[in-house]
Amino acid sequence: MFAGIAGRYDLLNHLLSGNIDKRWRRTVARTLETSLTEGSRVLDVACGTGDLSLVLARAGKAEVVGLDFCRPMLEIARRKAADDSRTVPFVEGDALRLPFADETFDAATIAFGLRNLAGVGEGLKELRRVLRRGGRLAVLEFSSPVVPGFRALFRFYFERVLPRVGGWVSGSRGAYEYLPDSVSRFPDQKRLAGLMRDAGFENVGYRNLTGGIAALHTGTRAG
Ligand SMILES: C[S@@+](CC[C@H](N)C(=O)[O-])C[C@H]1O[C@@H](n2cnc3c(N)ncnc32)[C@H](O)[C@@H]1O
Repeated sequence: MFAGIAGRYDLLNHLLSGNIDKRWRRTVARTLETSLTEGSRVLDVACGTGDLSLVLARAGKAEVVGLDFCRPMLEIARRKAADDSRTVPFVEGDALRLPFADETFDAATIAFGLRNLAGVGEGLKELRRVLRRGGRLAVLEFSSPVVPGFRALFRFYFERVLPRVGGWVSGSRGAYEYLPDSVSRFPDQKRLAGLMRDAGFENVGYRNLTGGIAALHTGTRAG
């Protein structure tokens, strides 16, 4: 599915979100600012076309690695990195079996990726495994809008308008029907925070973005 939409993925992200997605990714980088210093290693899982990986790389001096299992997405990410002064290796691999040793990274991110994994808890545990003790995780994901009137309006847009426009521009209506469907099955803000604690993260907190359309969860690898 992701291979089928890779070529139009960035265009549709920016179009369908009115460019808000860019602001959300910058918020992730600002939140992790203290972990993006020289000598730090940061892993961006389910990096897709690499937008967050590149934002993280530009925001500090950390060594950033992007990982995804979809080669056409990675090819676009690599082309973007080649046009950038920062070097970001993009690695092909499965988020549920990360090709890295335990405790390799100082920080990890996953943006709009956790929802797509076969197991959210398994994905979180695998992210925990590759983080050093005290390492930080940031999860950016669609969530539950918190204002009732806005929630209804957003649902109409997300379930009725977005699949049509996404299907028309990408040629894959299924992918853009899958999007609202997968978001509706994904845990809301509080439940995701609970799953992060269950997976071995502490100091777990979240921040609603754009009225809760998305949320940024953060946590620290415990012990
Ligand atoms: C919605 S895109 C998000 C891409 C990017 N993080 C962003 O913010 O635009 C989801 C990505 O997750 C990747 N993905 C889904 N399941 C995966 C898995 N098990 N392992 C690695 N990548 C995965 C897909 O290939 C796709 O590129």
